[in-house]
Amino acid sequence: MTDTILHQPVLLQKTINALKITPGEAYLDCTLGSAGHAVEIIKKGGKLFGLDVDPAAIKRAKARLEKIPNAYFRLKTLNFSQLKLAAQSWKLTSVAGILLDLGLSSEQLADTARGFSFMTAAPLDMRADPNLTVTAADLINGLTKKELNDLFKKLGQEQYSLAIANGIVRTRREKRISSTLELAQLVARVKPRRGKLHPATKVFQALRIVVNDELNNLKAVLPQAVDLLKPGGRLVVISFHSLEDRIIKHFIKNNQSLTNLTKKPIQPTQSEIANNPRARSAKLRIAQKI
Ligand SMILES: C[S@@+](CC[C@H](N)C(=O)[O-])C[C@H]1O[C@@H](n2cnc3c(N)ncnc32)[C@H](O)[C@@H]1O
Repeated sequence: MTDTILHQPVLLQKTINALKITPGEAYLDCTLGSAGHAVEIIKKGGKLFGLDVDPAAIKRAKARLEKIPNAYFRLKTLNFSQLKLAAQSWKLTSVAGILLDLGLSSEQLADTARGFSFMTAAPLDMRADPNLTVTAADLINGLTKKELNDLFKKLGQEQYSLAIANGIVRTRREKRISSTLELAQLVARVKPRRGKLHPATKVFQALRIVVNDELNNLKAVLPQAVDLLKPGGRLVVISFHSLEDRIIKHFIKNNQSLTNLTKKPIQPTQSEIANNPRARSAKLRIAQKI
């Protein structure tokens, strides 16, 4: 781990505007990451309460936030599915804004030991929380062909799910599949390459979602966030794929305590995407507590 910050916060100004920071008010950043958004919340005078499931992220964020003069912040390593527990421990009963910037930071993707990227050789791990016990390698080597097919189809929206599941089952008869590159090359062999996307992108997305239980964590945090918002407080969520965006959109639409402020999600401009390709699939949704 280095002190150099790689992660460029996505939709930074629009997110900060959406949170409508009032000096002295409390804001919860549930996905602290490298503190890109948190720094701006603090600079605008907000009191920052930050969570991340990854202890390395908390350490990096703390080092960064400590450099801001007169910053008020409290940090905790915890899954945001336990948001209320975190709030209780900070004696917070209501806050003016809550941010979720889902997915992973550039530091996590670049950390070759973590196995999130199909571009570098690493153990097939993908746990954002090092205390989790099941890795991506366990799933690849342990699930049945049908389970692998379902996983890639449903969570990766992968058209070639069956061919990939077949390829995995064939290969692992010979030896355990344990590295990111082995899996990425296997997928590339059975699936035609189309467009700019690496053939393994969707398979890696599906594995990451399951290893970290991402969709269930999202479903768990949203109602807790609404309960913690004060009237007029803002819920601001940035998602990076349609499975997440669908959950957020329906939650906001069906929640009677929220006003939907983004009928259509806010997306990055072409120039932001050119500067920060990670932003390309970002969607920002904003809701206000009634
Ligand atoms: C996209 S990054 C956030 C980047 C941050 N906004 C910034 O600008 O530096 C997402 C972060 O959320 C964390 N995360 C993902 N799922 C989480 C969960 N269920 N609970 C807590 N943190 C989570 C990841 O570990 C990662 O550090």
